[in-house]
Amino acid sequence: MFETLKPAAPDGILALMSLYRDDPRAGKIDLGVGVYRDESGGTPVMRAVREAERRLHESQATKTYLGLAGDVAFNGLMIGLVFGGDADRARLRAAQTPGGTGALRMLADLIRLARPDATVWAPDPTWPNHLPILRAAGLKIASFPYYDAATGITFDAAIESLKGAAAGDVVLLHGCCHNPTGADLSLDQWAALADFMAGRGLVPFVDIAYQGFGQGLDEDAAGLRLMAGKAPEMLVAASCSKNFSVYRDRAGAAILLGRDAAQADTAFSQLLGVGRGIWSMPPDHAAACVRIVLEDAALRADWQAELEAVRTRMLDLRRDFAEALRRASNSDRFDFIAGQRGMFSRLGLTQEQVRRLRDEHGVYIVGDSRFNVAGLPGDRLDELAARVVSVLA
Ligand SMILES: Cc1ncc(COP(=O)(O)O)c(C=O)c1O
Repeated sequence: MFETLKPAAPDGILALMSLYRDDPRAGKIDLGVGVYRDESGGTPVMRAVREAERRLHESQATKTYLGLAGDVAFNGLMIGLVFGGDADRARLRAAQTPGGTGALRMLADLIRLARPDATVWAPDPTWPNHLPILRAAGLKIASFPYYDAATGITFDAAIESLKGAAAGDVVLLHGCCHNPTGADLSLDQWAALADFMAGRGLVPFVDIAYQGFGQGLDEDAAGLRLMAGKAPEMLVAASCSKNFSVYRDRAGAAILLGRDAAQADTAFSQLLGVGRGIWSMPPDHAAACVRIVLEDAALRADWQAELEAVRTRMLDLRRDFAEALRRASNSDRFDFIAGQRGMFSRLGLTQEQVRRLRDEHGVYIVGDSRFNVAGLPGDRLDELAARVVSVLA
């Protein structure tokens, strides 16, 4: 049967990683891969997570199944983390998932079950994996314009485009730290969008994969919370990969908001059925660690302090890189980098300039000119800025 298959298209970022690995140049710089890096280039286990692992190791007496929703205490804590103290818990239900990707897929399958004809409207650009996940669930996809390199967020054009959506369609939004642009909606824009969507019966589907990486834990969820206050129904895919640095252990949550408790229960029962048909039960380890951290006041405070240091380090790098580019280019062309948030921005280069940056200068960024802010070498920013400016000509 395999003779019917053609090789899958290679993953652009993984291909970039292997090109980087094979590049013998000493001064090469990797700004491609999407994981947080500290100043030594590593992605350490966070202190509080390490302590939680130790406690788990000492206290865990069994590895028997937890159930379809995974760790119920973790799920409750994730609702609190994402929706805050005022969360309307009577209408909210959460299931533990393997990472944010698992949550996206589970919720996409739920949309397909609930409204097989719904179109999911995704921002253009968006995280490249969004589209294959939605497609794999058999959903129709449309896009709305989100960002323009010259002018920033194209809010009016987005609204104009979404006027073409039918009641019951779903709109995919990034909770914060938009990947790949780093350009987030203002709270006024969230409010206007929430009113527009509620008025037209459009269902928000918010992907929040970088909570705590942008403006702060609560600030990063403020738009989503505002939306939840106005939306009768809503879907949220939350990831712990970045903010707890548990990438490979796979923890996240699929959260749904129903019109009332009874509807939430019904939808949740279907959501669990979806999980049953994919992975049956989610993996436990990282979610258990996240639960231990969030339940313990001291561990939680230490986690928040470490996350805050990660966040402010990226802000400093953004500011310093924008300044280095200003000096090198003698222009304000790259000033936007300082004002954007999260782990990514786009330099606004053509594919040819991206290629030259890699081939001539050993600087690796993604083809759409997305770079990982956390990978910026703090002590070589002027040198890096000079390399970027040299490919502009
Ligand atoms: C926008 C966005 N959503 C979701 C994810 C999924 O993360 P994970 O499945 O690793 O938790 C990512 C990871 O890069 C992302 O950038």
